[in-house]
Amino acid sequence: MSDIQDRIVIITGASSGIGEATAKELASKGAKVILAARREDRLQKLQQEIESSGGQAVYKVTDVASHEQMEELAAYALKEFGKIDVMVNNAGVMPLSPVHEKKIHEWDAMIDINIKGVLYGIAAVLPSMRERKEGHIINVSSIAGHLVFPASAVYSGTKFAVRAITEGLRIEECGNNIRTTIISPGSIATELTQAISGSELKAAIIEETKIAIEPASIARAIGFAIEQPADVAVNEMIVRPTIQQL
Ligand SMILES: NC(=O)c1ccc[n+]([C@@H]2O[C@H](COP(=O)([O-])OP(=O)(O)OC[C@H]3O[C@@H](n4cnc5c(N)ncnc54)[C@H](OP(=O)(O)O)[C@@H]3O)[C@@H](O)[C@H]2O)c1
Repeated sequence: MSDIQDRIVIITGASSGIGEATAKELASKGAKVILAARREDRLQKLQQEIESSGGQAVYKVTDVASHEQMEELAAYALKEFGKIDVMVNNAGVMPLSPVHEKKIHEWDAMIDINIKGVLYGIAAVLPSMRERKEGHIINVSSIAGHLVFPASAVYSGTKFAVRAITEGLRIEECGNNIRTTIISPGSIATELTQAISGSELKAAIIEETKIAIEPASIARAIGFAIEQPADVAVNEMIVRPTIQQL
């Protein structure tokens, strides 16, 4: 198989932004998508939207920070479709703040969702992919996984970690015919900035995101990685607005 038609794809963080756009893009190309996030109303609406456009989607309310719930998500996909071709570990949060403000709960959330969530996603799908000697794990990092900015110390730390984990996984699993892709978006127009709790910083970041491009641009890049022939792995991509300098 070298295209998207009939691929079984789990997408975390499918209730908005990049995950939602990815679900629509892949479903429009014939993938069967399993939508995961915490907000059920959003997942339900997206499932209906995809199905009314002729696509196929199911959803499962899932908190990626729960190892048990991620295992249940993979088990659900296997029960519904018999296999998992692609796992898109996309869910993430970005409550930026300077370190001295000691927003410990926000640090914990970023570590639990952005790092542990990706690890739990890998852990949940890897056994069945190793057994089949086929699979593709796509992890969403960020331009902040390549560069550090003021107030991004912890967020960048989590996104650097996503890149390190994905590269480690690539080295360990390429011999098992499992592909890995790191995708690092630049500024994308989504709800991600809403979680910034400092009002001045939030306003400044929202001002910076005026150059943001649509989440569909990342969805297309994810589609490109998936549709390559099985012996071709697109291991890493940076996709940002043309005008974005850093
Ligand atoms: N937007 C950008 O400029 C940009 C740039 C670089 C990287 N990224 C990365 O892209 C990814 C997607 O973000 P986005 O920009 O599309 O933002 P978004 O619109 O805020 O979407 C984030 C998604 O993550 C989900 N999520 C958050 N915590 C979760 C949890 N504990 N369990 C399950 N799902 C959870 C949210 O769903 P629920 O709240 O319903 O659970 C939502 O669907 C993130 O990893 C982000 O770091 C974004």
